[in-house]
Amino acid sequence: MKKLEQLYEGKAKKVFATDDPNVVLVDYKDDATAFNGLKRGSIAGKGVINNRVTNFLMQMLEKNGIPTHFIEEISDRETLVKKVSIVPLEVIVRNIAAGSLSKRLGLPEGTPLKRTVIEYCYKNDDLGDPMVNEYHIAAMEWVSKPELDKIAAYALKINDLLRKYFKGLSIDLVDFKLEFGITADGELVLADEISPDTCRFWDSKTHEKLDKDRFRRDLGGVEEAYQEIIHRLMGE
Ligand code: TMP
Ligand code: ASP
Repeated sequence: MKKLEQLYEGKAKKVFATDDPNVVLVDYKDDATAFNGLKRGSIAGKGVINNRVTNFLMQMLEKNGIPTHFIEEISDRETLVKKVSIVPLEVIVRNIAAGSLSKRLGLPEGTPLKRTVIEYCYKNDDLGDPMVNEYHIAAMEWVSKPELDKIAAYALKINDLLRKYFKGLSIDLVDFKLEFGITADGELVLADEISPDTCRFWDSKTHEKLDKDRFRRDLGGVEEAYQEIIHRLMGE
């Protein structure tokens, strides 16, 4: 498959057209941003790790009944995925209080949640990705009600699968963000990435942070944390 013109450049990835109109090529960058692009930097080797970790997890989820956009990893940083129309929602799933939830509700970070929490944010950088609820989503017609129900069901199933998988690697899955898209055939699929950029991973024993919070909060050891995740997942 040929890599053709660049269609889009995001904060962490570039997307290119291919000679198949239903397939695009994602190219992962080492660039890192936080706080809606206010903080900028680079994490050496991040693009390679996020590409490989995302593809590994997407394939695990596919095997367990979650449809994804994944087609084929073609290099360390490049993957072919189904072209989708992205649902403009960030779907956040939380098991343990941290980050913006801790701030909003005054809950100490690390407080276990008695039920899994799902939040939706409208994907819009100019507005700072504001949190929205099902009523806003219906009123704005960002996605239909049956599709939103399916998104929530997939998000909970993905949480069960990932949580168990990471527990086996001695990692607590604190929270994470998902994005979904709709293919040319009208199929709802998991899209974007699942990586230390988009999840909070805490070591089960030491509670050490093994994710992008090390960059967001200037904790040091950023590259090492990303390497630790790929090492535990894939033994590299
Ligand atoms: P939050 O606590 O800052 O709302 O983040 C919740 C989860 O979502 C956390 O695992 C990080 C992830 N996330 C993203 O992937 N992209 C974002 O833009 C934000 C704000 C959070
Ligand atoms: N990626 C997001 C941004 O820079 C925020 C984050 O991951 O904290 O906008």
